[in-house]
Amino acid sequence: MKKTVSTIAEMKRGGQKISMLTCYDYTMSKLISSQGIDILLVGDSLGNVKLGYENTIPVTIEDMIYHTKTVKRGNAGALLVTDMPFMSYEISVQDAVYNAARLIKEGGAEAVKVEGGIEIIDKVKAILDAKIPVMGHLGLTPQAINKFGGFKVQAREEGAQKKLIEDAKALEDAGVFSIVLEAITESFAKTVAETLKIPVIGIGAGRYCDGQVLVIDDILGTFTDFTPKFVKKYANVGETVKEAVKNYINEVRDGKFPSEENTYK
Ligand code: KIV
Repeated sequence: MKKTVSTIAEMKRGGQKISMLTCYDYTMSKLISSQGIDILLVGDSLGNVKLGYENTIPVTIEDMIYHTKTVKRGNAGALLVTDMPFMSYEISVQDAVYNAARLIKEGGAEAVKVEGGIEIIDKVKAILDAKIPVMGHLGLTPQAINKFGGFKVQAREEGAQKKLIEDAKALEDAGVFSIVLEAITESFAKTVAETLKIPVIGIGAGRYCDGQVLVIDDILGTFTDFTPKFVKKYANVGETVKEAVKNYINEVRDGKFPSEENTYK
């Protein structure tokens, strides 16, 4: 069954946990969506894990459209959400709507994700007015890495927690269909999830969120430049790739590949 923003909202009401993973290409989209994932996120984390940048800042709208198109072609039914990259929505309402529309029209995304709260609420409202569903992202927002000065747990103090709740409520009132909450203590994330009617999807936000999201390359063990504490590795595909490639190289060098079965008569 095709998942939509309504399916996701319904899951919270029914007490069903939401599963979400990042995805950046056709092959992985086919593999992941065939297993029934609820949401595929073309995250701007592709800057780190696919493009080799130090952070998500250099990622462009063209990068996001390109990767969304490939994920779209492999998607077997998940809700397809794409990140709006840094500075594609902050400068003006017009830019925000235009770039969100490009992700939908050219990329084939079904919703967009933006980082921030009250300070971008005019842009969020304008995108929603253009009939494009929006997912929020609060807590550790990687596009603000230069402001935060590193990847740290957010909103530990009362003032910061009050501000985060205000941001979350403003996003909910504006009409976003869900919010990603990143790098927040478990107890505070629980408060946020209980305060909001819309689903709260956690990443490094403990067990009481309405759903969970992780970066696919982290859970598969293909990206090892840095691994946050909240990541659980479900496989070691990186080591499997190295082993396979080493065997291939050795067989080519030793004349064992190709063998008769790989050869046209
Ligand atoms: O870009 C991304 O992958 C994300 C998730 C980690 C939530 O925003």
